Amino acid sequence: MTVDGGGMIEQLEVAWARSDAFFEILTGEGVWLERPIGLRHPFVFYLGHLPAFAWNQVGRGVLGLGHHHRTFDVLFERGIDPEEASSADDVAAWPEIAAVEAYRDEVRARIREVAPQLRALSGDALAEGDRVLHLVIEHEQMHHETLMYMLMRLDPRWKQRPDWLPPRGGGPRRRGGPRASLHPRGPGHGRR
Ligand SMILES: [Fe+2]
Repeated sequence: MTVDGGGMIEQLEVAWARSDAFFEILTGEGVWLERPIGLRHPFVFYLGHLPAFAWNQVGRGVLGLGHHHRTFDVLFERGIDPEEASSADDVAAWPEIAAVEAYRDEVRARIREVAPQLRALSGDALAEGDRVLHLVIEHEQMHHETLMYMLMRLDPRWKQRPDWLPPRGGGPRRRGGPRASLHPRGPGHGRR
C-alpha cells in the first residue's frame, strides 16, 4: 500500500459513500435487526461499527481525543461475531437507527475536522503519511465485502432497488442517484 499522505479525506469520502450505498438497499421496519448470515451481527451493528472503528483509531487512538460517544464507541467497536448463532446479542439491546446514523454523521464530521492534526504528529507510525486514514479506508472496504455477502443472503422482501441502479431493462439512471456506485469503475464514480 502506498502511503503518500495526499487526498486521503477524498478517498475516505468515496468509501463512506459506498457504505451508504449498501445500506440504501435495506428497506422495511425491522430490517436492521436481520441477520441473514447466522454468525454475523445484524445490519445495525455494521452501521455503527464503521464510524466506531474510525473514531477509535483516529480520534481516541492516534490523536488521543477521548470518546466521541462513550456508549457507542464501545458498543460498536467489537467486530467479534457470536460463536454460535443462538448466542447472538439480544436484539432489544441495539439502539435506535436514527441515533446510530447521527453518531455516524457526527464521527465523519469530526474525522474531517481533526484529520489535519495527524500531520502535526511526529514519531507516530500511524499518523505518518495519514497511515491511520488508510487503515480506516481499508476497514470500510473490508466490510463492504461483509455487507455484500449479507445482502446476497437477505430475503428479497427486505431489499429495495436503489436509485443509483439503472431501471430494469436498461436505460439511464434515475435522477438523484447514485451517491456511490458499488462498482468502482461504474460511470461517474471511482475511476482509479
Ligand atoms: Fe470491523
